[in-house]
Amino acid sequence: MRILSGIQPSGALHVGNYFGMMQPAIELQNEDEAFYFIADYHSMTSLFDAEQRRQNTQDVALDFLACGLDPAKAIFFRQSDVPEVTELTWLLTTLTPMPMLENCHSYKDKLAKGLKPNHGLFAYPVLMAADILIYDSNVVPVGRDQKQHVEVTRDIAVKFNLTYGETFVMPEPRIRAEVAAVPGTDGQKMSKSYDNTIEIFGDEKPLRKKIMRLVMDSRTPEEPKPDADQNIAIQLLKLFAPADIAQSTEDQLRAGGYGYGDLKKTLFEHYWEHFAEARAKRAELENNLDYVNQVLNDSAQKARALATTVLDRAKKNCGLC
Ligand code: ADP
Ligand code: TRP
Repeated sequence: MRILSGIQPSGALHVGNYFGMMQPAIELQNEDEAFYFIADYHSMTSLFDAEQRRQNTQDVALDFLACGLDPAKAIFFRQSDVPEVTELTWLLTTLTPMPMLENCHSYKDKLAKGLKPNHGLFAYPVLMAADILIYDSNVVPVGRDQKQHVEVTRDIAVKFNLTYGETFVMPEPRIRAEVAAVPGTDGQKMSKSYDNTIEIFGDEKPLRKKIMRLVMDSRTPEEPKPDADQNIAIQLLKLFAPADIAQSTEDQLRAGGYGYGDLKKTLFEHYWEHFAEARAKRAELENNLDYVNQVLNDSAQKARALATTVLDRAKKNCGLC
């Protein structure tokens, strides 16, 4: 079984990325062959600052390695170090119906937010399909918002296989129900584009501030809160704290006599503790950037060898060679 996933270097990674995609991906590295990459080509659809992209790419590498990605177990590379993926994108794009892309939620959401779309943003799912298909991937761990893109990938693979003969392996999304959509500071899905994120790494003071500013209702501490399980801080606490602590905090909130200020302090402590080890590891890696680059370069060579084989297979089947 081959596991594959990618993450864009479009901004600082947040706890939604962590629980929705990174942690499941890191756990899966122990199960089978894993390929993880930094989707720098994808970031070009929305980020237009070269230096920022370079910095973000390095940050994603540091974040992922600090959180436990083990280069001895998983292949971890930059998407653009395997340029074959753009060639495969062309082959796939000729079999991709326009309406299928017009229907993609993430594209429609961006249009609805007033973003002026470029062709790359529209064609984004086809590049993602190439990312997945070029490594004969079986399993794709992602958050719920990416499920449709994996379905698009499957549709394109079926069409290619029907048109040109059996070429691609059929991938499946792997989504963890309990962390499919981690809430942000405003209660909506946490996302870099909604300005509601809690970053995995950063300075303590601003992060504490963010958590203390979580949006709550105006009920007094004394009032019982029968809907305690719906509270954003409780939902987040369940991710960071041991189950018994999260449960007893929820019970206290439900019973009344426990204020939101205390709740947020508890949340911050558990959040900060949860990433303590990763924070130390990240500081170490920051002083060892040569090692980080070596990991990315070595992995890219391995990824490229496989990508070339699959691209050749696709080119043969469609009559390009
Ligand atoms: P963002 O929405 O912040 O731009 P990305 O689209 O870069 O995040 O997502 C990277 C990965 O993290 C994807 O697999 C996505 O499904 C997952 N992810 C992002 N936000 C969340 C969230 N709030 N809850 C669960 N998973 C998430
Ligand atoms: N589109 C994904 C995101 O924004 C990133 C991504 C690119 C990806 N290619 C992929 C994820 C292939 C899984 C598989 O999160």
